[in-house]
Amino acid sequence: VNTITYAQKGAENKIITEKSLESILEKNRTYYIEGKVADYIPELGKMDAKAIAFSVVAKNGKIFNSGDVHKKFTMQSISKIIALMIAVNERGEADVFNKMGYFGTDRPFNHFSNLETTGKPLNPMMNAGAILTTSLILGNGEKPFLKILDMVRYITKNPTLDYSKSVYESEKSTGHRNRGMFYLMKNNGLISGNEDQLDNYFRQCSIELTAEDLAKIGYFFANQCVRFDGDATYKNKELARLVQSQMLIAGMYEFSGEYARTVGLPSKSGVGGGIAVSVPGKMGIGVFSPALDQHGNSSAGYHMILDFVKQYDLSLF
Ligand code: DON
Repeated sequence: VNTITYAQKGAENKIITEKSLESILEKNRTYYIEGKVADYIPELGKMDAKAIAFSVVAKNGKIFNSGDVHKKFTMQSISKIIALMIAVNERGEADVFNKMGYFGTDRPFNHFSNLETTGKPLNPMMNAGAILTTSLILGNGEKPFLKILDMVRYITKNPTLDYSKSVYESEKSTGHRNRGMFYLMKNNGLISGNEDQLDNYFRQCSIELTAEDLAKIGYFFANQCVRFDGDATYKNKELARLVQSQMLIAGMYEFSGEYARTVGLPSKSGVGGGIAVSVPGKMGIGVFSPALDQHGNSSAGYHMILDFVKQYDLSLF
């Protein structure tokens, strides 16, 4: 732990400005050198490693942006929190968590962990639990995926948002490990459908959005599922608590414990280079920089969050 976060003096009185975001972004821009763009999904390997964006949706939905905030990338694992929200809304928490755990992890996102022992995924944030979660959303064919897409469109108030067919095809043709998990869970009696359900997971991971969209997603869960413009259609304090608790304990995978120590906020990363952060009751943060550290989390993204949290004293603890 060489990056422990101590809040700066007078942090609580500091006002957020675009300029402050910009200086944090510039300070951390070169951290991409420490990371590597994901290429196990071949299509992701084409991303520009130098792209970087930092976005904040502050109290009352006010938006602050810096860098390539309108550059699109795929949300990847960040889609798992949306799938969790929908599955729990439809089936209830007990039914979903009867099939998987609330556990944290010391394993990477694509680990089979205890699928071979207890038979159940550790949590809905790692791939196994997320694939299962998506299979639990009601409807045939691509209907569950369309529900996820619609929810992301709603939260971001961005109705033209869509998924990347090329990233989807790339994941589908190379995602044999995920396919292995899918069939092991089918063997364990947790999954009842066919491969359409796995395709929905690949599709949700391929939804394209921006850092600003991620900040809006962070804001939504930070504020009891109320949208950044105040729309309260999905307001649900318990659901926001559940999703944020999973983000806190497993949203950054095996790095989650150290991250809770240094950043101290519910966050969810994706191998597209995005991280969505919720500052409970306050704001949402969205960062993007495609080069990833050894845990599959954005390297420069993490460092920008760390500096911002320090500057404004945002850690929960
Ligand atoms: O299933 C996969 O491997 C990817 N579609 C998503 C993994 C991911 O984003 C892990 N996050 N850091």
